[in-house]
Amino acid sequence: MNKKILVAGGAGFIGVNFIKYMLNENPDNKIINFDALTYAGNLASLASCENNPNYEFVHGDIRNAEDVAEAIKKYNVDSIINFAAESHVDRSIDGPHVFLDTNIFGTYTLLQAARDFDIQRYLQVSTDEVYGSLGKTGLFTESTTIKPNSPYSASKASADHMVRAWHKTYGLNAVITRCSNNYGAYQFPEKMIPLCIYNARNGNKIPVYGDGMQIRDWLYVYDHCTAIWEVFSRAIPGEVFNIGGNNEKTNLTLVNAILAMLGKPKSLIQFVKDRPGHDRRYAIDSSKMKERLGWEPSLTFEEGIEKTIRWYIDNQNWLNQVTSGDYQNYYKQMYADR
Ligand code: NAD
Ligand code: TYD
Repeated sequence: MNKKILVAGGAGFIGVNFIKYMLNENPDNKIINFDALTYAGNLASLASCENNPNYEFVHGDIRNAEDVAEAIKKYNVDSIINFAAESHVDRSIDGPHVFLDTNIFGTYTLLQAARDFDIQRYLQVSTDEVYGSLGKTGLFTESTTIKPNSPYSASKASADHMVRAWHKTYGLNAVITRCSNNYGAYQFPEKMIPLCIYNARNGNKIPVYGDGMQIRDWLYVYDHCTAIWEVFSRAIPGEVFNIGGNNEKTNLTLVNAILAMLGKPKSLIQFVKDRPGHDRRYAIDSSKMKERLGWEPSLTFEEGIEKTIRWYIDNQNWLNQVTSGDYQNYYKQMYADR
């Protein structure tokens, strides 16, 4: 395809997996990883890509128009995929400001740069959380009303509305993907699955919010990456695609499965105070992905979770690095009085 793609937020969990997927499986494209390296960004995850001629790293902030313009000009960028965001719901409840700043204003900055530099394709990586919460039945489709419940999802929904408006008003060739919960290698251990693996392996309690009966639709991160590339390559300008794993699990079922695979006792589960505004159920109808683009998840949950647990066991150094320093303070602050 020979695209020069600015991947904003490429040093985070999904961005890292996407860059590796692209360099390995779509090597005709040049990837410019543009990342501010917040607590969630980690260049060590991309050490194996450093010498790849199709990979460049730019330390920059999507809220800073000059940083963005410089990177686009320097590498003659023709496409943007925006992963960059503050991404953790619990942090957004404690401190919403940076979520609005990065997720809304940062997206605005990228959209304006896309206009200024005649970007040919813009893909916004969004989330199913913009749709709010489901009852016991039903699925989110692309035409479900946007009804976000957390500061995080409200900021992502705002960004989606701008992407739509920039397409309608300025004719920007923009598309949006809305994916369910991802899991896999390189996920920061503030999120449920790596937190559970990390705590369980250290013999520490696993905090389960409320009654643990909330439902998430889990997708292995590699499958999200292939879906993004299909949408990037083939969607009609202005289209939205939901991406999901067709794999609903209660949090309790999920934690029990991980504990069983690690050979750890259920007594590690500790029910703690629920998250305010906690969405009860997410479930995705990704039939549009299948019918229009022929995409389906390639791994079952059992295969994906086994690979994921194996990765965390084999990459203890990575975990040690990201859980040193600030992480311990974060953990105490978030869970000590819960
Ligand atoms: P993450 O928190 O692991 O990574 C975010 C990355 O963005 C980090 O590398 C960080 O340094 C970078 N970043 C943050 N602020 C920045 C700024 N101002 N300028 C430049 N870079 C900045 O997030 P993730 O889990 O990899 O999620 C990536 C995207 O996918 C997000 O937009 C998120 O909303 C969306 N998403 C995530 C999931 C999930 O389950 N993790 C599911 C659906 C959608
Ligand atoms: P999380 O990984 O934070 O993703 P999201 O909130 O974006 O869905 O959480 C997944 C589910 O696990 C969610 O219902 C909240 C719950 N959860 C816990 O019960 N305990 C925890 O310590 C965390 C981090 C999450």
